[in-house]
Amino acid sequence: MSITRSIVLGCGSYLPARTLTNAELAGMVDTSDDWIVQRTGIRERHIAADGEFTSDLAVHAARDALAAAGLEPQAIDLIILATATPDHTFPASAVTVQAQLGITQGAAFDLQAVCSGFVFAIATADSLLRTGGFKRALVIGSETFTRILDWKDRTTCVIFGDGAGAVVLEAAPQAGTLADRGVLGAKMRSDGRHKSKLYVDGGPSTTGTAGYLRMEGKEVFRHAVTMITGAVEDVLAETGTKATDIDWFVPHQANQRIIDGCAHRLGVSRDKIVSTVDRHGNTSAASIPLALHTAVTDGRIKQGDLVMIEAMGGGFTWGAALIRW
Ligand code: ACO
Repeated sequence: MSITRSIVLGCGSYLPARTLTNAELAGMVDTSDDWIVQRTGIRERHIAADGEFTSDLAVHAARDALAAAGLEPQAIDLIILATATPDHTFPASAVTVQAQLGITQGAAFDLQAVCSGFVFAIATADSLLRTGGFKRALVIGSETFTRILDWKDRTTCVIFGDGAGAVVLEAAPQAGTLADRGVLGAKMRSDGRHKSKLYVDGGPSTTGTAGYLRMEGKEVFRHAVTMITGAVEDVLAETGTKATDIDWFVPHQANQRIIDGCAHRLGVSRDKIVSTVDRHGNTSAASIPLALHTAVTDGRIKQGDLVMIEAMGGGFTWGAALIRW
């Protein structure tokens, strides 16, 4: 029986030129390279230049993904941009990306699920592609989180960075088996009772300002491993796969200790973990496609590999998706 799957045609990413090291941060707030590395695994992060917006980062990543897919922008009829740091309250940054790419067909919108945004965007694009309403999607995660950081708060400003990543998905007929290419299963979850544990203290309807990121780090940590492993296990059960079948585990790059904790609990071996948190920091919705592109570029992820992505973030939101590359 032939079914429609959303298969990955290409992957791309973009990092702003400027890096900020832990040593530089230690000159700004009371922290140290040792503390940051031990608690988070982060060594440096990238910072968008003045005048460089979330949509600009997204356009670079999208062009990179289109080139990898061997497609012109006009082949795309759906853009989903996962971001919690849009250029403006409205319009969606996705329409700026659409216009900059010269795409005049289809639909473009932003998706807001904070660090889980890319997983939610993959799940959403997959659903829309499988309905037959769209043919090819650009799924982008792009963030300028350094713009919403309180640079006097050492508990948050050492964690986040800027960047963008993108994949091109195409609706394609597949056999309907586990050997198919494409998105094989996905899970999205949220529980708003936790919304005050990681949030931004501003917004158009409340303060009329963009606000700053606030986080109860210990509380986030306490829930992260349980929520993430639950979502991954749901996707494994839904697809009839086991953790040992996963070729590459590509988590949201929040914190090396959360990544290791999840992999350990799931029984995923260390050599299958793709980690870029040391160089990128936590780039929220951009972190998974940035890590995917890193592992595709260095030859780890190859066509046919089984790739599990997962994330947890503000809301709380969390989820996972299994993709045969
Ligand atoms: N440098 C030096 N000391 C610091 C820093 C810093 N940057 N930040 C906090 N401290 C101090 C604290 O003030 C505290 O000092 P005290 O004992 O004198 O009061 C001490 O270090 C320990 O602080 P804790 O908050 O208990 O440190 P913890 O071990 O919990 O680590 C951290 C903090 C890294 C934020 C951890 O809780 C964590 O990783 N949480 C998960 C948060 C996360 O990953 N967020 C990402 C967004 S959500 C997501 O993407 C999933």
